[in-house]
Amino acid sequence: MSLRLNPRAKALKVPGTRQFSNQLVNYPDAINLTIGQPDFPTPQSVKEAGIHAINNNLTGYSHNAGILNLRESINTFFSDKYGFSYDPINEIIVTNGAAEAIDSLFRTILEEGDEVILPAPIYTGYVPVIEFCGAKVVYLDTTETNFQPSAEKLAELITDKTKAVLFNYPSNPTGVVLTKETMDQLVEVLVNKDIYVITDEIYSENTFSGDHLSFASYPQLREKLFYIHGLSKSHSMTGWRIGFLMGPAEIMQHVLKVHLYNSICANLPAQYAAIEAVTNAKDTPEEMNVEYIKRRDFVYKRLVEIGLPVEKPNGAFYIFPSIQAYGLNSFDFATKLLQEGGVAVVPGSAFTPYGEGYIRISYAYGMPVLVEGMDRLEKFVQKLK
Ligand SMILES: Cc1ncc(COP(=O)(O)O)c(C=O)c1O
Repeated sequence: MSLRLNPRAKALKVPGTRQFSNQLVNYPDAINLTIGQPDFPTPQSVKEAGIHAINNNLTGYSHNAGILNLRESINTFFSDKYGFSYDPINEIIVTNGAAEAIDSLFRTILEEGDEVILPAPIYTGYVPVIEFCGAKVVYLDTTETNFQPSAEKLAELITDKTKAVLFNYPSNPTGVVLTKETMDQLVEVLVNKDIYVITDEIYSENTFSGDHLSFASYPQLREKLFYIHGLSKSHSMTGWRIGFLMGPAEIMQHVLKVHLYNSICANLPAQYAAIEAVTNAKDTPEEMNVEYIKRRDFVYKRLVEIGLPVEKPNGAFYIFPSIQAYGLNSFDFATKLLQEGGVAVVPGSAFTPYGEGYIRISYAYGMPVLVEGMDRLEKFVQKLK
């Protein structure tokens, strides 16, 4: 057949995270440490709010930006917690997960030939979307600075083609959070430049010590900053598909058109559930964090004992040890670990070439799974020595 496809669609690859979890069906006894979603149920009152909406026939379309009550509740949640505010009328859009916020935003702002700077290693969901828009990704290597993006390096990477810089802290895949000092320096570099700042803070509620600092709290970035969030991680609602995008009204009116042609609105019963999540159930993440901290401490301790160099994460639910000492690339290491060691992890190379030499372990699993997983990893690593 001679009908052509969009070559950019053809060039898209299945994310490395999926490639590995897809292999798992062939290894039914493997311990799976690949998944990026909480292992807790959605809070009961949130489920009930969704059920109540369905039972009351609140099952139609909503305003394209989402129901106003939800947008108001979102603004209250973030202003109470982080001290920044967006106008619910024209600065907040409820999206189909943060994934759709990322897509709609990039499709609104990017043109052919633009450059977008990403600190790397980084989550798999940005590069394909940026490249699909005909823009180019420029990586800011963080591997030599404890996964903290250096402001100096950022300044060096900026060209007249730079359209945006995206930050994702707490980070998927490293779990690293930024110090205030680092953030101040990054903001200093960006403040007088015509460059959009995009901050995906979907893991902000899973910060384990100290308060989360948001790029949205810097008023000097207000006119060019976009804040991405959602309930997938904070409230264990990955399947409900609720994300939030906030930004300056002037640009959000255009994002809203992209969003509405893409999906009209977010799922309405899920929007009602989301109101409950950000109001009465707003403290649920704290309860999950008690567990995550125990698991993080355990996995970190075990990795140190096993001898894998690792940065102690302070957020999200991932840890990113180095496997450089074993002479295998991360894909081969992860494949062998699955086949011979019975543990599935994600090769670091899934998170851009700067993740090469590392593996991502998710600790969104119960303790018995983590204990067994770490024991198996230890045995496997000892055999490799
Ligand atoms: C950093 C980051 N942003 C966005 C997403 C997508 O989240 P959502 O389920 O809200 O689309 C994920 C999911 O893993 C993520 O890790």
